[in-house]
Amino acid sequence: MPLSNAQARDLNALLHPLTNLKLLAERGPLIIERGEGVRVFDTAGRDYIEGMSGLWCTSLGWGDKELIEATAEQMRKLSYGHVFGGKSHEPAAALAEKLKEVSPFPVGKVFFGCSGSEANDTQVRFAWYAANARGETKRKKIISRRMGYHGVTLASASLTGIPAIHKGFDAPFDFAVHADLPHHYRGAEPGESERDFSARLAANLEALIAREGPDTIAAMIVEPVMGAGGAIVPPDGYFDAITKVLIRHAIPLISDEIVTGFGRTGEWFGCAKYGFEPGSASVAKGLSSAYLPVSAVLLSPELTEIIDRESLRMGSLGHGLTYGGHPVTTAVALKTIEIYQRRDIVGHVRHVSPLFLARLKRLEEHPLVGEARGVGLIAGLELVADKKTKAHFPAERMVAQTAVSFAEAEGLIVRPLPVDRIALCPPLIITEAEIDELFDRLTRALDKTADWAKREKLL
Ligand SMILES: Cc1ncc(COP(=O)(O)O)c(C=O)c1O
Repeated sequence: MPLSNAQARDLNALLHPLTNLKLLAERGPLIIERGEGVRVFDTAGRDYIEGMSGLWCTSLGWGDKELIEATAEQMRKLSYGHVFGGKSHEPAAALAEKLKEVSPFPVGKVFFGCSGSEANDTQVRFAWYAANARGETKRKKIISRRMGYHGVTLASASLTGIPAIHKGFDAPFDFAVHADLPHHYRGAEPGESERDFSARLAANLEALIAREGPDTIAAMIVEPVMGAGGAIVPPDGYFDAITKVLIRHAIPLISDEIVTGFGRTGEWFGCAKYGFEPGSASVAKGLSSAYLPVSAVLLSPELTEIIDRESLRMGSLGHGLTYGGHPVTTAVALKTIEIYQRRDIVGHVRHVSPLFLARLKRLEEHPLVGEARGVGLIAGLELVADKKTKAHFPAERMVAQTAVSFAEAEGLIVRPLPVDRIALCPPLIITEAEIDELFDRLTRALDKTADWAKREKLL
């Protein structure tokens, strides 16, 4: 199909992140015009179930009237304000207070930004600042994990363990140390149980810490469920095993809750789901259901106290963002959390998740699917050439990308991730009927992909 005028204009002017540029040039972008509930509509009026909540973020779906009204009301009242130099405003303070209330671990204070990357860069700065304040000036390294995703700004891109984010950008910087990817399906030895695999990864972490020097490590950062690195649910016993190692070496744990915060796993936060207590957490995305860009760093009372004390000694905290704690974004986030509570969104996720996970599990019977694993309303599928040997398809055949294109033609948006994985992360408001529709569309797309793979002699 020739490109439409809108597509041609887009290609001429817009730099598209994390996009297969060859496919983009051939097909042009899918231009979305409007959204309603769990669906978005393209310029021809075709509907798509948004099985990815945009970029893992629109938890309350599109067009929520309360959020739109909260935005307009705050815009009318105070369209901008900041929290530098002794100024403040009610929405930022109220949101900080609300985050302290809903956090599953004790929080002293909250710091606001606009994006997940900023929140994680802030985590690195605060980890160094706190270590320096304690006189532990050698503690500079931050452990993250291979295929972990923490953003693309300079520090967060280094924490990210995905080669495509590093290549050509002189990343990662050497403060970032990458530990094992906790993916049992790919990483386990033959016959190794999930718990044994977790214990082995914890032993590897112990060895890595010994190698690097425990007194050189400022923190470890983890996503409770890995997002962009493959939508990977941790193996049984994983967090229990690794947190024991971290506690033994007094290494603070940062929970990157940017995807898992606010109900995604069926608990308010991923750390609560997996039973660990971090010293700090990053939140964004679901924080405002992506109605406006806002992120936050939640700090334990101990970290708060060190940062406050050091800032007092220095004269002020030398960190801050023009739009951090913006009155409109914080007002919308506050309304979002109020809606999560009032409409019991976490309860809803728990109610519909069994159907989501049952329909997901059924896909493991599909000839293309090696693994289908999820929790709450997030899941990853892995497409393989041979289910027994778990052999990958040739990378250049882009099988997951092909499946995602078939899904798009069926009216479903899902996302291909490395290697031949497909992520599912629908809005948390999705109903059981919509879950069935999502999986019906996905199954048809996988059937078409299998037919194509057979024609291409890939299966
Ligand atoms: C777990 C996680 N951390 C950090 C980020 C970075 O957030 P942003 O794109 O808002 O900078 C993302 C974005 O996808 C994420 O999934």
